Amino acid sequence: MTSSLVIRRASVGDAAVIARHRVAMFSDMGSVPPLQLADALLKLSTSALVAALGNESYVGWLALEGNNQVVAGAGVHVKPQLPRISEDGTSVVTAALPLVVNVYTEPAWRHKGIARALMATLMQWATTERFDRLVLHASDAARPLYISLGFVPTNEMRWSPKIRAENP
Ligand SMILES: CC(C)(COP(=O)(O)OP(=O)(O)OC[C@H]1O[C@@H](n2cnc3c(N)ncnc32)[C@H](O)[C@@H]1OP(=O)(O)O)[C@@H](O)C(=O)NCCC(=O)NCCS
Repeated sequence: MTSSLVIRRASVGDAAVIARHRVAMFSDMGSVPPLQLADALLKLSTSALVAALGNESYVGWLALEGNNQVVAGAGVHVKPQLPRISEDGTSVVTAALPLVVNVYTEPAWRHKGIARALMATLMQWATTERFDRLVLHASDAARPLYISLGFVPTNEMRWSPKIRAENP
């Protein structure tokens, strides 16, 4: 990690940069939407993030270099869930569940440990807030990083009517 790196909590005023990261993240992950859809995703993500940062259902962090340039970010979308047994099997958890989202490092700043530092900050937050679990959907690029941080694959599956139509 570079010595001038600063990590700070995101505020409502950062919604546009986080939305930009979100669109770039999907693009880097190979799901490049047509320009018109990418534009709609950017606009709708910005307004959704303004609301979610405002009510703290989204908690995010940004990494800044040098002259306050945002070079990376990561966040959690804290979603309501039904009661479940805790990770250690000793209690019933009724708290919302944080889904890690929008993990993105600008291409010129990759392989310097910035995403790792953001994830460490996020994991420290989850520990302090007494969440017993973080969940995420890993890209191929990020999977080794998450595994090295202690994340493990789970039993999540996915279905959609489109997939069913293609594979009857
Ligand atoms: C995945 C992503 C977030 C990683 O960001 P990053 O800031 O480059 O991540 P880090 O530098 O912390 O770690 C990445 C790799 O660099 C290596 N690295 C870290 N510091 C390093 C250094 N000083 N010198 C060389 N390599 C280094 C790490 O070991 C890691 O290697 P690994 O992937 O084989 O485990 C970034 O590539 C990205 O934005 N990708 C596109 C979007 C995406 O996939 N997001 C994740 C969605 S789940």
